[in-house]
Amino acid sequence: MALDEFLVELDQLTDSAAESFNAALDVDSLEVVRVNLLGAKSGRLKVVQKGLGAIDAADKPLAGKRFNEAKQKIEAAYANAKMRLSSDDAEQEATSFDPTEPGRRPTIGHLHPITQTISELKDIFARLGFSVADGPEIEDERHNFEALNIAPSHPARDPLDNFYLQTAIQAGDTGKSPWLLRSQTSTVQIRVMETTPPPVRIVSVGRVYRPDTADATHYPMFHQIEGLLVDTDVTLADLKSVLRIFCSSYLGEDVHVRFRPSFFPFTEPSVEVDMQWRDGWIEMGGAGMVDPHVFEAVGYDPEKVSGFAFGLGVERLCARRFGITDIREFFKNDVRFLQQF
Ligand code: FA5
Repeated sequence: MALDEFLVELDQLTDSAAESFNAALDVDSLEVVRVNLLGAKSGRLKVVQKGLGAIDAADKPLAGKRFNEAKQKIEAAYANAKMRLSSDDAEQEATSFDPTEPGRRPTIGHLHPITQTISELKDIFARLGFSVADGPEIEDERHNFEALNIAPSHPARDPLDNFYLQTAIQAGDTGKSPWLLRSQTSTVQIRVMETTPPPVRIVSVGRVYRPDTADATHYPMFHQIEGLLVDTDVTLADLKSVLRIFCSSYLGEDVHVRFRPSFFPFTEPSVEVDMQWRDGWIEMGGAGMVDPHVFEAVGYDPEKVSGFAFGLGVERLCARRFGITDIREFFKNDVRFLQQF
């Protein structure tokens, strides 16, 4: 191949390479041009390089030198184009950010309606002078039944009506009391009286467990708020007043509270507490005057002290307040439901 011809070809390639690199509008099209010109296998520069072999031996040094110069120019044109496009990108990014636009508000969650209800209930009772006590969710039979005057033959102790713990039943074989998930918060009455001399004025809110079939007003795990007041000369009228004040603070002055005679082994007399507010009556809980056997079980003198206790269902209180007709909704964790409260 003649040297002249080779040099013309080289110049043409160098010019058209600079043009093509400058014309590339984005990184992708620049890459297409790069492969076409500088591609390692069949790029146009490679093809021209192959022509070097056909140059006369005497002209080879000059041809090689000019080839290297051309190659450097083409590579420099590529590097410039690459830099131009990457700074274009950065510039575009910088200009597309508008600091005057209002910020994007992050989605902030909120407390579950049951948790909201629990803190409101505690607040109301705090204003009535009740402090908050806690107790374990895994209990022994003494606190869940025996000290509450619930005899071994009482149907409430039936293993089918409670969640006994398997390991605890085995422990029972070794003479230890079996454990169970507490079926009521009345256990906390016992725990508080065992460790505190009278007078006592506490509420306790927490989860309780029963193998109940789930329906609109029942769930196998639910929350109760327990109240206990022990002092001298406490009467049923005090219980009624406290529950009335509580209900009107929680639901409004237009709430009606009704006591129906009932039976609990740990209160005498015992009542069911029903409420009516903007709808039909609903049973909210049980209550009564603390049974003397309970005082004896915790070492209080029933001749000297008297008291009342109550236990209300938190899901039912919350459902009535918000007009929810099925308490199962609380535990489905559907955000479309939860977002409303
Ligand atoms: C008791 O649990 C007694 N410990 C209440 C008590 C305390 C009486 C202190 C006397 C003195 P009862 O089993 O009725 O009572 O339950 C009380 C309330 O818990 C019910 O009125 C209801 O509001 C709620 N409740 C009961 N079972 C369920 C359930 N499966 N799901 C949701 N709420 C329930």
